Amino acid sequence: MATSISEITRAVEALLANPPPIEDRKDGEAELLFDAMDRLRVALEKPEQTVNRIIFSCRTLPIIKIAQGMGIFDAFAAAGHDKPLSLDQLDKQTKGDRPMLVRILRLLITEKVVTKANDLFTLAPFAFQFRNDTVSGEVIKHFHNTALTAIQAPNYLKARDYMSPDDAYDAPHQFANNTKKHYFDWLADDEERQRPFNATMSLPRHDNQNQWFDIYPVRERLDDKSHVFIDLGGGAGHDVASLKSRFPDLPGRLVLQDLPAVVKGVELPSGIEVIPHNMFEPQPIKGARAYYMRTVLHDWPDKQALEVLARTREAMGKSSILLINENVLSEGGADDTPVVAHTDFTMMLNFSSHERTEAEWTELLQKANLKVIKVWKPQQTIKSRALFEAMRADASL
Ligand SMILES: C[S@@+](CC[C@H](N)C(=O)[O-])C[C@H]1O[C@@H](n2cnc3c(N)ncnc32)[C@H](O)[C@@H]1O
Repeated sequence: MATSISEITRAVEALLANPPPIEDRKDGEAELLFDAMDRLRVALEKPEQTVNRIIFSCRTLPIIKIAQGMGIFDAFAAAGHDKPLSLDQLDKQTKGDRPMLVRILRLLITEKVVTKANDLFTLAPFAFQFRNDTVSGEVIKHFHNTALTAIQAPNYLKARDYMSPDDAYDAPHQFANNTKKHYFDWLADDEERQRPFNATMSLPRHDNQNQWFDIYPVRERLDDKSHVFIDLGGGAGHDVASLKSRFPDLPGRLVLQDLPAVVKGVELPSGIEVIPHNMFEPQPIKGARAYYMRTVLHDWPDKQALEVLARTREAMGKSSILLINENVLSEGGADDTPVVAHTDFTMMLNFSSHERTEAEWTELLQKANLKVIKVWKPQQTIKSRALFEAMRADASL
């Protein structure tokens, strides 16, 4: 067994030379290694190395966004995968002057995004997704917007004695962006914010190999021509489109609802209706079989989440089902994946909201005069996701 630093380095180099393909890895095996490597790094680093790593980490995203804006990733993509480029070639194909290009390449090398050998630069395979016409490229733009708010959060929280915010109109977002507008209204004001946000929402959800309709008995519950299924706050409709693609013959109506700015111009497979709707207004479709919301309510503190639930509850009939597909925090709070911990932080930054535990979701639904019929959970090791199935408190399946 490798126990010295040099033996472990040799073992890591051997693995690097021949990494096992993703599909051959056992569930969670690589993640255990990452965790061990992260802890080993902190244990072996000199304190100043750890501090340097932490203080420079907030710069990775801005560096990638600058490289994206200069067209560095586009230049590599135009040349083709595995094709190294010289400085002259990159200089000809990117914006900005040569000293800027050299400076950014130097940083990309420290970030392991680019490697340099024999005066030629090669882009790491994962970084091709940062070119300008990709969904992941848009995700960089979206998270850069959020990072601007994160940078200001210490000043916001200090001014409020580090109390948890609960007002969606006085969140770190308003403080950092010098606006009174709610985050969603602020997004809608600028296509350069709305489009990257929509693209980010279209990504498959983290650690969610199972789609909700793989664990929910769709045929049993939603298979009737009188049924209406509403994806409320469904963004550009990727989720309801996936449902349609998995169950093309599902009878009844499929409806996407979201704010007018979000659903404007959205193109969906035929058979899916698009109805602009503000969920704080009375729900126009009464007595639908299913009102479905995926990661919609987590954007709102309890006060507004209860208003949305009240508008939905008013529209629900005795056989209506409410489906809430949400992140779920661990009880006790310190046993969550980094992605869930960061999503909770993002909810605070943009909305003064927070992720909730299973008990908090159940309580929220009860306060809205709804009862939880069943909490559907993905199999495997995923603990951070659940589909809450609820009905009016006076109804039953
Ligand atoms: C976190 S996104 C989730 C989008 C989608 N359900 C998904 O899972 O990809 C929250 C969605 O709520 C929508 N939303 C925000 N305020 C809304 C409102 N007042 N009425 C309807 N939809 C709203 C946003 O436009 C956004 O699409």
